[in-house]
Amino acid sequence: MAKAQKNYVCSKCAAVTTKWSGRCDECGEWNTIAEEKPLSTSGPTKKSLGGMRGKPVPLSDLSTKDAPPPRTSSGIAELDRVLGGGLVPASAILVGGDPGIGKSTLLLQAAAQFALEGLKVIYVSGEESAAQVRMRAQRLGLGGAPVKLAAETNLRDILTTMEAEEPDLVIIDSIQTMWADNVESAPGSVSQVRAAAHELTTFAKTRGVSVVLVGHVTKDGQLAGPRVVEHMVDTVLYFEGERGHHFRLLRAVKNRFGPSNEIGVFEMTGDGLREVKNPSALFLSERDEPAPGSVVFAGIEGTRPVLVEFQALVAPSPHAQARRTVVGWDGGRLAMILAVLESRCSIPFAGLDVYLNVAGGMKVSEPAADLAVATALLSAREDVAVPKDCVVFGELSLSGSLRPVNQTENRLKEAKKLGFSSAILPARSKAAEKSGMSLRQMTDLVNFVGEVFGA
Ligand code: TYD
Ligand code: MG
Repeated sequence: MAKAQKNYVCSKCAAVTTKWSGRCDECGEWNTIAEEKPLSTSGPTKKSLGGMRGKPVPLSDLSTKDAPPPRTSSGIAELDRVLGGGLVPASAILVGGDPGIGKSTLLLQAAAQFALEGLKVIYVSGEESAAQVRMRAQRLGLGGAPVKLAAETNLRDILTTMEAEEPDLVIIDSIQTMWADNVESAPGSVSQVRAAAHELTTFAKTRGVSVVLVGHVTKDGQLAGPRVVEHMVDTVLYFEGERGHHFRLLRAVKNRFGPSNEIGVFEMTGDGLREVKNPSALFLSERDEPAPGSVVFAGIEGTRPVLVEFQALVAPSPHAQARRTVVGWDGGRLAMILAVLESRCSIPFAGLDVYLNVAGGMKVSEPAADLAVATALLSAREDVAVPKDCVVFGELSLSGSLRPVNQTENRLKEAKKLGFSSAILPARSKAAEKSGMSLRQMTDLVNFVGEVFGA
């Protein structure tokens, strides 16, 4: 009998190889490669779950009778938005995030809301006992919600229960605690996580049950990152936030049923997560009088405008090598902007420490923030405050020219709504005049530095 081929999988990027090595060739991470045990082909969990048995049907034959029923709203608008307008029946969703960020809290609240909307919901906890989950529900004021709880880690038992109960939605908290008895490795290993996620998503598709898998993202190589699960599910949501801050972002990084990159904003309070309907107001709530280095960026997150504050500090460096520290933005992009300021505008930053921070723990990834960052850096370096009523946005090219960005109108509208009355933005930005704000449109960075900072 031929020897079975061994496979090795990286727990960070899920790349599969046939040879073990200390470093993953795909993502370059060390010590993330582990052997993947083959799934056993026997046992009841592996039996075909019925259905069409892979027989193809012409697209035109799919009658509208079989069209999926409409989405169910969770009653939590921020969650519905991230899902693309509510829960799609028979969908598989992964909710990832650091331990302690609030995943269980969010999903327990969502479970209760969906149950109140009429869905049959089962919440399976592999981490806490049913009594502990009930206590948490009571603390959240959801003690009376018609959600069924189970404390279980054996996948076979969970699938059997799901088959018998016929729920509409099952929440698995967390996928790392699940254990398939036909796979030899320990719970939390890549093989177990992959096998459990596969069984659960297959079940979701064939039985028309929506499944939410909770996954911890840890830097520790011991627990398999939920990256291996990302390919198997329809929707991947990440729950983010800084420990010292009370608000949390739910971000869609993949969504087969809606726009990706959509965010939902929540605030963690003593009695659970509360929706934040107007994130810009929250992000700007701690702003004081205009200070040098502080700039408000009119950004877009997913489909909605969000205003955030960039803060920069530029100070003579006591170190041989000046520091560049960034929180909430890309370090490489900061280096690029510093280089453009130095080479195109002859403003040196050598010998100066540069700190850049996005207030409130928000993460910004849009290149449209380039001009806001450049403004914050110059404002800090020149010790000149940007007027309090002014927002900034625009993309910067290596040549130093400024490029208009998308959704100018929405950015300005949001700024106006929040009481801002002027904006610095690239020239030729579409539909900017309609906003009724006082606009300073710039063609390039040299022109901008001269106009705004008189340098
Ligand atoms: P939890 O949902 O258990 O996190 P995860 O499932 O992602 O590991 O949330 C844990 C943190 O949230 C914990 O530090 C306490 C805090 N918390 C509140 O602040 N208010 C609440 O009402 C609840 C339930 C938790
Ligand atoms: Mg938890």
